[in-house]
Amino acid sequence: MSDDRRDWWRHAVIYQVYIRSFADADGDGLGDIAGLRSKLDHLVSLGVDAIWINPWYPSPFADAGYDVSDYRAIEPRFGTLEAATELIAAAHDRGVRVLLDIVPNHTSDQHVWFQQALAAGPGSPERERYVFRDGLGPNGDERPNDWQSAFHGPAWTRVVEADGTPGQWYLHLFAPEQPDLNWHHPDVHADFLETLRFWFDRGVDGFRIDVAHSLVKEEGLPDIAARSWATLPFRLQSIPGVHQTDHPHWDRDEVHEIYREWRRVADAYDPPRIFVAEAWVPDPSRIARYLRADELHTAFNFDFLRCPWSADQLRTVIDDTLIEHRAVGAPATWVLSNHDVARHVSRLARSQEGVRGHHLRDLAADADLSLGLRRARAAALLMFALPGSCYVYQGEEFGLPEVEDLPDEALQDPTWERSGHTDRGRDGCRVPIPWSDSPPTFGFGPDHGNAPWLPQPAWFGEFAASGQEGVASSMLELYRAGLAMRRAEPALGDGEMAWSPSMPDGAFAFTREPGFACLVNVSASPVPVPDGWELLLASGPLTDGTVPADTTAWFRR
Ligand code: GLC
Repeated sequence: MSDDRRDWWRHAVIYQVYIRSFADADGDGLGDIAGLRSKLDHLVSLGVDAIWINPWYPSPFADAGYDVSDYRAIEPRFGTLEAATELIAAAHDRGVRVLLDIVPNHTSDQHVWFQQALAAGPGSPERERYVFRDGLGPNGDERPNDWQSAFHGPAWTRVVEADGTPGQWYLHLFAPEQPDLNWHHPDVHADFLETLRFWFDRGVDGFRIDVAHSLVKEEGLPDIAARSWATLPFRLQSIPGVHQTDHPHWDRDEVHEIYREWRRVADAYDPPRIFVAEAWVPDPSRIARYLRADELHTAFNFDFLRCPWSADQLRTVIDDTLIEHRAVGAPATWVLSNHDVARHVSRLARSQEGVRGHHLRDLAADADLSLGLRRARAAALLMFALPGSCYVYQGEEFGLPEVEDLPDEALQDPTWERSGHTDRGRDGCRVPIPWSDSPPTFGFGPDHGNAPWLPQPAWFGEFAASGQEGVASSMLELYRAGLAMRRAEPALGDGEMAWSPSMPDGAFAFTREPGFACLVNVSASPVPVPDGWELLLASGPLTDGTVPADTTAWFRR
């Protein structure tokens, strides 16, 4: 067996397909499997190694498909199981691997198990698969504890029992339509193993694991306010080591046993299947624990995604990442955007002073999109040159910015309603992407079909794929050139790097063997190219032997 058959994930470039916004073949306004299939050649010409498809299972879409009602079937609006199986084969024929998204923390409230739990009543075995509790207080009308939902408001909802009386409460760390499973229950373990095998048997190469750090809850479900760190300001709570080991529902040590079980299933396949964890754990040493040899393969590097455009901070994140990953023998990953965060062109278009988040509400209001694009080009070449694997979120190869002015009535993210219309949520990065410059759908769907599920702004055509094909200065051609070179260059992908000494403030450079160097200029002044370095590729034109501000360049040395 060749190494690449087993080890492809150590250096892969993985493209995230947010399926309902990728390409709509049947004209219902929602992307679908046939649309994805029709664009496989785009992905091949882009030069990616794999795709990760966001949940495509039957779902009432209370949270965009992360409320799954059947893990071993396909949402009818996306297609059929047959179409899914053919898509996997068609991707494989083109040398593109396929990862799916598995959602183990919660199901949809329409899942048969939850419906059975509601019908069966308090104390029944059916309720044991979820986290049902009696309420506190004489009438049971107080919530069982003080936990909050990630989408605002309490993490508990009270049910009405079959006889019409107010009943027990159930836990949902996300929306009320997403009841949390009880991972202390053997049925839950067995059912997810069956789901893994179901898709592995159909050729799927691996899974992205949704909120991988939340599955296990502390016995007794203690209040968070009782924890010593709970009175600290929120920012201090996320300092490495402060609260990570004793949070009652995030990143508990017991969660690792689940992934050891999953790894044994994945390793029984030839070639072995792989996992990537979505775990928002603000401490690289805690992330590394998920990547021990008998657990998961990789994890998203959200510290890199959240890092401001600052040379010092980027260097620190890169160092911390590599040190912690090396300790467990896992490759690092790098990511700039996904379906949960504001698109990075728009984040980088703002002042980077005091940046502390990935939502635009955390950043300055003033945006300079041409600066954002320039930095995004530089960030892409930095990411492609770092050791390990990387993720590209659909549309970033077109330089798409966030859609910041979606009309209120169009918003669909549950956070909008649950926050009492104070948090606009994540829809701005989920708008169906533009393939051509012609309205009404900019090539997302057929001309006479339904309008896309989120409205596209009039300016979307400026970022369309069609206008960038063959245009050397375009974002699309930069991505293609960068990924082609990354593939051809033996120094790139998995491996080591070394910092180059004596770079001016605000710039940094690193070398990789054999004979490769990457220089990133985050400062406002041009940086001279070191002697003997010959240009391979740059995110913007070099001037008089210097790398200008907000530019990354690759060299042969
Ligand atoms: C993950 C997903 C996000 C979803 C949440 C709940 O963070 O990426 O989109 O809302 O989990 O499943």
